[in-house]
Amino acid sequence: MESPELKAKYRYVLDGISQIPSLPTVVSKILGIINNPRAGADDIAKYLEMDVGLAGKILRLANSAYYGVPGGITSVNRAVVQLGFNAVSSIVVSASVFSLFKSSSGHHSMNRVAFWRHSIETALYCRVLARLAEHLDAEIAFTQGMLHDIGALALETAFPAEYSGLIESARKTGTPLEICERELFGMDHGQVGSRLLERWGIPEIVRIPVAEHHGYNNSSPYLPYTQILELANDISQSKGSLLFVSQTIASFDLQSRLARVGISVTTEAFAALCEEEMKRAQLVMNLLRS
Ligand SMILES: [Fe+2]
Ligand SMILES: [Fe+2]
Repeated sequence: MESPELKAKYRYVLDGISQIPSLPTVVSKILGIINNPRAGADDIAKYLEMDVGLAGKILRLANSAYYGVPGGITSVNRAVVQLGFNAVSSIVVSASVFSLFKSSSGHHSMNRVAFWRHSIETALYCRVLARLAEHLDAEIAFTQGMLHDIGALALETAFPAEYSGLIESARKTGTPLEICERELFGMDHGQVGSRLLERWGIPEIVRIPVAEHHGYNNSSPYLPYTQILELANDISQSKGSLLFVSQTIASFDLQSRLARVGISVTTEAFAALCEEEMKRAQLVMNLLRS
C-alpha cells in the first residue's frame, strides 16, 4: 500500500514532468511501432514522409556504406526495408531526443555534454551486448540505452533548484543518485523517465527496462533487456563517464558481469567489438549532424 505521503510525492513529480514538451507526433508514431509485428515498412514510411528532414536522413543512411547499398536506394519505403524497422526507430531517437532538451535554457546542474556522451556510450554497449546475447534485438537495446537516464533530465528541467541540491548532496555524501531521488521524489530517474516515455507513446519493451535499470526483481518482464541495460550503464560509468555517483564502480569485474548475463566472450574480444562499434557509430552520428 502506498502511503498518502508517497502518493503526494508521485503527484508532485508527475505534475512537474507534465510540463515537458512532447516529442513531435511523427517521432512518437514511429517509436510506437517498434516491436509491433503487424507494422509494415509502409506504416513507417508514411510517417517519415511527413518529416522531410528525418526522411532525408534515413535515405542518406540507407545509402551509406554503414547500412546499405551506396547510391542504390531512392524511396523512403525501400530505405526502411533496407535498414529494418528497429534501426529506423533507433535513428529517429538519436536524431530527435537530443533536440527536445537542447532548447531548455537556465541553469543545468548536470553537464549536458557528459550526459549525452554517457547516453550514447550506454546505447552502444547495449547494442553490442544484445548482439552477443543473440536472442535480443540490438536496436531495441540501443534505444533503451539512449533513453535510460532521460528521467534525470526531466527532473532537472521540472525541479531545477531541488534537483541541483540533490545532486550536490549525493556528491558530498557519496550516496547513489537514485537513492537520494527515491527519498525526495518517491521515485528514481529510471521510473520518472519511464513515465515520460509512456506519455510519449513509447512501448513497454523500451519503458520497463528504463524504469528498472536501478532496481528490478527476477520476475520482471523484459528481464534480459533490463540486465544488459544495467550492465551497459555500469560499463560506461566504469570507463569514466562518471556522471552520477555509483557504488558499483569500485568493485567492477567485467568478465564476471558478462558471465552473469549469459555472455561468454573474453574481455579483450568484448573491448574489440565495442571499439569497432564506436567507430561505426561515429560515422552515423556525423551523418545525422550534417
Ligand atoms: Fe541511471
Ligand atoms: Fe546511466
